[in-house]
Amino acid sequence: MKSCFKVFPVLALGAAALVCLGCKSMPGYPKQEAEVVRPEEVLDFTTLYQQNCSGCHGDHGRNGAALPLNNPAYLAVIGAGNLRTITAKGMHGTLMPPFARSAGGTLTDQQIEVLVQGMLREWSKPAEFAGAVLPPYASNAAGNAAEGQKAFVAACSRCHGADGTGVKPTAGTSPVQNGASPDSVVDPTYLALVSNQSLRSLIIGGRPDENVPDWRSYITGPGAHALTPQEIDDIVAWLAAHRAPAPGEPMSNTSSNTPSATGKEIK
Ligand code: HEC
Ligand code: HEC
Repeated sequence: MKSCFKVFPVLALGAAALVCLGCKSMPGYPKQEAEVVRPEEVLDFTTLYQQNCSGCHGDHGRNGAALPLNNPAYLAVIGAGNLRTITAKGMHGTLMPPFARSAGGTLTDQQIEVLVQGMLREWSKPAEFAGAVLPPYASNAAGNAAEGQKAFVAACSRCHGADGTGVKPTAGTSPVQNGASPDSVVDPTYLALVSNQSLRSLIIGGRPDENVPDWRSYITGPGAHALTPQEIDDIVAWLAAHRAPAPGEPMSNTSSNTPSATGKEIK
């Protein structure tokens, strides 16, 4: 009996080795080549989008935390060039990371191109915007906040209330399709998380996933017109004026060494 215990582990090891040798030639075991798809060899738009973008911009470009990219109006305005630059280099000072290897990301230039062309092919409708006068995607103009408030009332108040804090339930019929009023768009904490470009892009493109119109059709009825580039600058200026100096930290006045959201110490 004693010797039997000594031999057993050896036999067990041998048997295990045989099983392992056998398994690679079992039917259904993937062939060597199929096992290795290097990350840079992924050139399928849907896979690349899913792996790199959907976590923030939502599945199929909608209903994510960041701006919906599956939006024909938005894509018509941003155009391939800006789309490529932002995907490759990210947006400095925001949560949008760079993806090109040359900018510290993980994707090749070819993969960036697959993403750009894929978004345009699957989610844009160039024919619908062929004759439209498009507002510029970006703007350096400061905008006039006082004028912006007027434009906000004309274009946005039916869903967001005249002061941007939302339509009160008592205000009667809400034009928001799902019946619920959106959250405040002048909340300093919300505004701390989004750049002016993000606000601008949202105003221009609307949100097809939330039945929010694009720049052409906010103002309806008598005086109906597409928002002008000036009005867009002004509304962004008015929204941005609600940003607080120490965003997200209403308690910061009482605790002198709490770091602010920008990493700087609050005095
Ligand atoms: C970690 C979250 C995150 C991931 C992942 C991400 N994005 Fe973004 N993206 C953002 C945020 C947040 C913004 C808005 C930044 C701002 O301006 O405040 C943004 C902005 C953008 C914009 C510009 C939006 C505008 O205002 O015009 C584009 C285009 C874009 N992302 C494309 C992509 C693509 C393509 C991918 C995948 C390759 C991707 N993003 C992955 C968070 C992300
Ligand atoms: C038809 C109703 C409607 C109109 C008109 C409208 N919005 Fe909105 N807005 C919404 C809804 C719905 C949401 C999504 C709310 C949510 O996600 O909680 C939203 C969200 C937003 C947000 C938050 C960002 C986001 O992506 O959720 C901002 C900022 C905003 N709107 C600004 C504006 C501005 C500025 C105008 C006028 C130019 C405007 N909206 C016009 C319904 C509208």
